[in-house]
Amino acid sequence: MERDTNLAEVAKLNFDVENIRKDFPILNRSIKGKPLVYLDNAATTQKPKSVIERTSTYYLNENSNIHRGVHTLSQLATEYYENSRSIIKKFLNASSNEEIIFTRGTTESINLIANTFGRKFIKEGDEIIISHMEHHSNIVPWQILCEERGAILKVAPINEHGELLIDEFERLITSKTKLVSLIHASNTLGTINLIKKITEISHSHGIPVLVDGAQAVSHIPIDMQDLDCDFYAFSGHKVYGPTGIGVLFGKKNLLDELPPYQGGGDMIRSVTFEKTTYNDLPFKFEAGTPNIVGAIGLGEALSYVSKVGVETIALYEQELLNYATKVLSEINELKIIGTALEKTSIISFVLKDIHPHDVGTILDNEGIAVRTGHHCTQPLMKRFNIPATTRASFAFYNTKKEIDMLSEAIKKVIKVFS
Ligand code: ALA
Repeated sequence: MERDTNLAEVAKLNFDVENIRKDFPILNRSIKGKPLVYLDNAATTQKPKSVIERTSTYYLNENSNIHRGVHTLSQLATEYYENSRSIIKKFLNASSNEEIIFTRGTTESINLIANTFGRKFIKEGDEIIISHMEHHSNIVPWQILCEERGAILKVAPINEHGELLIDEFERLITSKTKLVSLIHASNTLGTINLIKKITEISHSHGIPVLVDGAQAVSHIPIDMQDLDCDFYAFSGHKVYGPTGIGVLFGKKNLLDELPPYQGGGDMIRSVTFEKTTYNDLPFKFEAGTPNIVGAIGLGEALSYVSKVGVETIALYEQELLNYATKVLSEINELKIIGTALEKTSIISFVLKDIHPHDVGTILDNEGIAVRTGHHCTQPLMKRFNIPATTRASFAFYNTKKEIDMLSEAIKKVIKVFS
């Protein structure tokens, strides 16, 4: 399927991939005697020097707990942590810092809403709508909730290209629908969902929308005012930051209505054995000592991404995607799974009856890192009638030369099995 390539735009970019690669020290290493070709960016991204240095400086020179001390180090740590929240607020174009909650990652952000919104608003017979392309982390929390509450989980279908059928989605909405929870970009197919349109439709029925943005934030510009969704979740490590840190954006008026997620320090205003009152947003949802260094590292990562330019990244990665689609489509034995018109830089594929784990092992011998398996999307595998795929996922430090190396290595796999 033809995608809109603006080669002239890419050529005009002030973007030098070789310079960018110098910022990522790990890209210089070799694997099994071959130069590393890292194409598993949808699983986790590599970290730029600035993030590595920022986190090590924190532990070398600044480590302290936040929101708790009058001493200098504690004050400084608090300032750096809260400054990261400001960076994230700006990156997402949220309305205020109160709308930015630090979590462990996308999974915890979704579970937070399942546990708080779910506890407060989901009753017997109510309905929640997800789609057929969801990651398990946007399926299982709702199944647990629905089972507890006697609610119903509905699944919006997709077509052969892996695109959401918007009309079918709208037909699922009833007066019992209480929440729509959808992935922004599929981790398996790359499909970018039309979140703005889905939100418009859902809001016209008075239904709030939660978006799993784990695979979108590192690839396309994200703007909360434009998307107008009610909740947005993402993970730090998928956008060049540390693991164990993530974000839940929520509209203030909705977050204000929700009960706390976990009880503990920092989320309270006052505690007596008779009654506890809760802290203001965003602290109401941040019980206990948080991942301070993770939050600071994430702020640094988003500053780095902003410096390169999200639009520049999006354009360059589309160019990589188009090139990879063309080169890999020339291999007769290879079938791409996920051919939506709007895609992030992910290519999932199957090679006749060669098991993806065998493909991944042989590619690893060539120094090429890809992910193989069901990618935590088993219902999606069932939809396409396959057990697993091999997935190459590209970041803005990847090159066309690496795509050529992938293509040559795949041809080797085919030879081994023929
Ligand atoms: N969700 C991550 C992936 O798709 C881990 O690989």
